[in-house]
Amino acid sequence: MKKIILFADTGIDDSIALTYALKNPEVDLIGVVSGYGNIDREKAYRNVEYLLELAGRTDIPVIAGATRPLSGEEPVFFPEIHGMEGLGPIDPPIPEERYANRTNFSKLFNLIKDNRHEITIVNVGRCTSLAIAHYLSPDVMQDVKETYVMGGAFIEPGNATEVAEANFYGDPLAANFVCRNVVNLTVVPLDATMDALLTPGVVNLIDTRSDSPLEEIIKPILDFYYDYYRQQDPGIPGTPQHDLAALMAALDISGLYEYKKRKVKVEYKGKFTDGQSIADFRPGSDNCFGPECTRIALKINQNVFVSNVLKILTNDR
Ligand code: RIB
Ligand code: CA
Repeated sequence: MKKIILFADTGIDDSIALTYALKNPEVDLIGVVSGYGNIDREKAYRNVEYLLELAGRTDIPVIAGATRPLSGEEPVFFPEIHGMEGLGPIDPPIPEERYANRTNFSKLFNLIKDNRHEITIVNVGRCTSLAIAHYLSPDVMQDVKETYVMGGAFIEPGNATEVAEANFYGDPLAANFVCRNVVNLTVVPLDATMDALLTPGVVNLIDTRSDSPLEEIIKPILDFYYDYYRQQDPGIPGTPQHDLAALMAALDISGLYEYKKRKVKVEYKGKFTDGQSIADFRPGSDNCFGPECTRIALKINQNVFVSNVLKILTNDR
């Protein structure tokens, strides 16, 4: 069982990742850091509280993350993709009491100190909160076992711009810091996650087997998400589960990914290319070794992905 801390900007695919984490017996979700990204920090935080309440898991601490990128600029949000509240058609109530007594950021460091060399961080939003944690307490962050980040687009086009993926584009300075400084790092970019598709047929099957209030939100939020993706690409057979795909990379599911190891940098001073992720994939380039090298998930096996998701989300264990 893996002890995981999820860093999320709790929109739709983040919520699916959170749901999967709560249902998978291999995952011990010991905390969630919720920051701005798809929506503002307050809504992202409130959404985690709401999902944990639906799951009956209000014992899991929710830590308020960053409100804006390291540059200090105002963030831009994406209601057309994730809905005004971040959960598609759902307008979650505010759990007033827990919301008022929110957990301080120092809770993150306490969780890591109490579980030295046992924690896996999975970051599925902007890299801001993760970078700040490393800036604030590098000694404590050294005790994190491994880190997974959903972000970047290497050979695949971007989704926020022609060349940049949304998480890296949202805070390219933080993304570059994380890619260049965090050891035992795996990046899961669009190259893989655009193929981590859940079709309407699979979503309907999950819906018919749902047996909890948490699972009942899966279909409405993914139907909303699919409407957006179909507007962008009418032929797309389902919705890409970027964040779930990154979480699953942390679980060592046999045959799920093909990886390459490279040095990764992220453009943050470009004229047209901010957020672009860069690694050397030219013919003749080779895997690199050493702490400065990042493992990149470049290809996902769709059959392994879907069958594992079905196993966990249809309670077929
Ligand atoms: O580019 C995909 C990423 O951007 C996902 O994490 C999604 O939730 C959005 O934040
Ligand atoms: Ca996300």
